Amino acid sequence: MTHSFDKSTIVTLAGLNLALSYENAAVDRLEKRLSESMDPQVKEKIDRHLEQTREQQDRLKLTIRTLGGEPLTENGRLPVPEPPPSLKEMIERGSTPNEREVWESINDLIIERAEVILYEGGIQALELLKADRRAIKILEKNLKEEEAYAIWLEKNNPRIAKRLMKKQLEDRKKKLLTEETPVSATTT
Ligand SMILES: [Fe+2]
Repeated sequence: MTHSFDKSTIVTLAGLNLALSYENAAVDRLEKRLSESMDPQVKEKIDRHLEQTREQQDRLKLTIRTLGGEPLTENGRLPVPEPPPSLKEMIERGSTPNEREVWESINDLIIERAEVILYEGGIQALELLKADRRAIKILEKNLKEEEAYAIWLEKNNPRIAKRLMKKQLEDRKKKLLTEETPVSATTT
């Protein structure tokens, strides 16, 4: 084998392992979201994407092994915006579960979009390297799933947020009504 081929394989394996490390992190995040989410529709979608993400991990691991590499077990770090400490505390302590759900759904979208960008960049890099077609094919398959979920989130997040906020308002009203026993105030 030529030296350049070896280098290409090394970079390809690094790229596949990098994608795997992000999917490892994605599984942890999705599991946490699944246990915390309180919206049945969101839960169902997260559950489906968790299943997809596990399949993505398996695909990446198989390709890494086929190319003679060892799959990483480490987690990469996915981008979640971090508010300044003063606001973070206010957001976390002052938010209702419904508000937190809306907040996290925005983070879900940011993560899925980031995954799309990372896969696109990775595919482009491997194409330039004339890497093994099998590696590129796997990244393309994963990219398609990330894209589909990101599009779903982008399209449905506003509607779900609206529903959650409306429900919160209605629950608050109901609570107020039950607390306020009829006052016998009469106007003259
Ligand atoms: Fe994803």
